[in-house]
Amino acid sequence: MSDSARYNRVQIILHWIIAAIVFFMIALGLYMTELPKQSELAPGEESVRAFYFLLHKSMGITAAMLILLRIFWRITHKAPPLPDTVAKWQQKAAGAVHWLLYGIMIAMPFSGYMQSMFSKYDTKFWGIVLPRVAEADKAMRETFSQVHEILAFLFIGVIIIHIAAAIKHRLSGTEITNRMSLRKH
Ligand code: HEM
Ligand code: HEM
Repeated sequence: MSDSARYNRVQIILHWIIAAIVFFMIALGLYMTELPKQSELAPGEESVRAFYFLLHKSMGITAAMLILLRIFWRITHKAPPLPDTVAKWQQKAAGAVHWLLYGIMIAMPFSGYMQSMFSKYDTKFWGIVLPRVAEADKAMRETFSQVHEILAFLFIGVIIIHIAAAIKHRLSGTEITNRMSLRKH
């Protein structure tokens, strides 16, 4: 496969770093929300919930920065065109899934950040307290919390479709997955 048929190096590296962070973030989000709150523990026991929440927020904001960089790079550097061997409807479906992924990649950290902003706790980014742009508001926090949760499950669904398509291409022997692989083969 010629180099012009592959995504450029920056796009490939960002795809895989962000994919790894997203997997980690989804697992962490689902895990940490199941942890007992301090008020649910026996006296003397300390909750580790806050630690994981802080990690999730810092990592999520880091992901948002990388995602913005990636979108900037994508706007300024075109994707390689798909070969004609891929049916038109499949090209359209791939395009739709990719834009949906970009949309959720933005909406996920945004809704997370908003629910954190409306909660009574400070939002910290690797220990640095971020300025408050809104007063604590329970109803708003709950709304964004629900949006964040619904988006998380939508994200999981779309990622499964995306990976299933990649596996299908791999098994049917097309060279499509080579377009995003770290090493050319
Ligand atoms: C790629 C980015 C992100 C992903 C994939 C992600 C994923 C998740 C998932 C799967 C959950 C558990 C489902 C739920 O109960 O809502 C969750 C919860 C949560 N996330 Fe995120 N998140 C991201 C970014 C952020 C950011 C940037 C913040 C805040 C600055 C944040 C704050 C929270 C909070 C506070 C919860 C707990 C909600 C609750 O108590 O119900 N998330 N996240
Ligand atoms: C094991 C997991 C994954 C595999 C095997 C995989 C594979 C691929 C491949 C082969 C492409 C290129 C498609 C083409 O040639 O047109 C691609 C594109 C893309 N992937 Fe993934 N991916 C994975 C995980 C993810 C995750 C978790 C996300 C989202 C956070 C994601 C977001 C995207 C996006 C947005 C594109 C479109 C790139 C563009 O045209 O700008 N991928 N992926």
